[in-house]
Order: sequence, then structure tokens, then C-alpha cells
Amino acid sequence: MKNEMSLQFKALSQNESFARVTVAAFLTQLDPTMDELTEIKTVVSEAVTNSIIHGYNDDPSGIVYIDMKMEDGMVDLEIRDEGQGIMDVEEARQPLFTSKPDMERSGMGFTIMENFMDQMEVISHPGTGTIVRLRKHLTKSTAMCN
Ligand SMILES: Nc1ncnc2c1ncn2[C@@H]1O[C@H](COP(=O)(O)OP(=O)(O)OP(=O)(O)O)[C@@H](O)[C@H]1O
Ligand SMILES: [Mg+2]
Repeated sequence: MKNEMSLQFKALSQNESFARVTVAAFLTQLDPTMDELTEIKTVVSEAVTNSIIHGYNDDPSGIVYIDMKMEDGMVDLEIRDEGQGIMDVEEARQPLFTSKPDMERSGMGFTIMENFMDQMEVISHPGTGTIVRLRKHLTKSTAMCN
């Protein structure tokens, strides 16, 4: 069975936990393992934080969008912003690359997302914003969403 949901919220740091918990609550329909739940919560947290602090530079008038689809044990997540975008996506995806070293960022967000998920696609253009698409197959692929 197929299921999907969408969320949109203001680019406020307190909404990062709202997004993470909401995605986790929806995901429970697929009966994930504790590790899978933790991994997906972590990637949502990383992507949403990036949209808030890099995409919108902490300007709360920005909106972050999440689309989530689940089918036969497969999870597709899209986290999108209409913020400043990324000049060089390949460079941004490198481990330890950060454009905000002064803010004690470690440059590991994309690397974590890539490691915890099966697939990651980043589409971004300066001035138009960023889309991060993430896909993961859960181990119990017979799990159904009722
Ligand atoms: N949504 C986004 N909008 C604009 N730039 C982004 C966005 N997401 C990532 N970036 C750019 O890509 C870089 C790498 O992101 P990544 O999440 O890997 O590291 P970080 O956010 O700098 O540090 P960390 O995630 O470890 O705190 C960022 O420093 C930023 O320049
Ligand atoms: Mg980050």
C-alpha cells in the first residue's frame, strides 16, 4: 500500500524537532527498526537544519517543505527550501566542507545523509533554493502501511 504526506513550516530552529518527530511518527506505519528510525530522524534533522541556517540564513520568513512517500518498505523523502541555493553542489557534498566554519559547523551533514540512506540527490541553484531527495529501503520489506 502507498501512503504519503506533506509538511511545510517556517524556518525556525524549533521546527527542526517538529519535523523530525512528525516524520518519525508517520514512518512507524512501516514498522522500522530502532536503527532505521534513528537514521531517518537524523537525516531529516540535518536537511532541515541546512535549509534553515544555510538556505534562509535563519530568516524565519522562509518556508521549509517536506514530502514523504512510503510504499512496500521504501521511503522517499524530499526536503526543499526556496533559499539562497548552493553554488557548487559537488564541493558542498564533500566530507568536512562547510561554508560556516565560524558557526562551529563540521561539514558532515551531507555525508551523514548519504551514509544513512540508500540514495541521495541534491538539486540546487543559487537564488532559487535547494532540493534534497533521499531514498531508503527498510529491512522488513514485507511491512505494510495500513
Ligand atoms: N539548504 C541549503 N541551502 C544552501 N546551502 C546549503 C544547504 N544545504 C547545505 N548547504 C551548503 O552545503 C554545505 C555543506 O552542508 P553540510 O550539511 O554537509 O555541512 P554544514 O551544514 O556546513 O555542517 P554540519 O551539517 O556538519 O553542521 C554547507 O556549509 C552549505 O554551504
Ligand atoms: Mg549541515
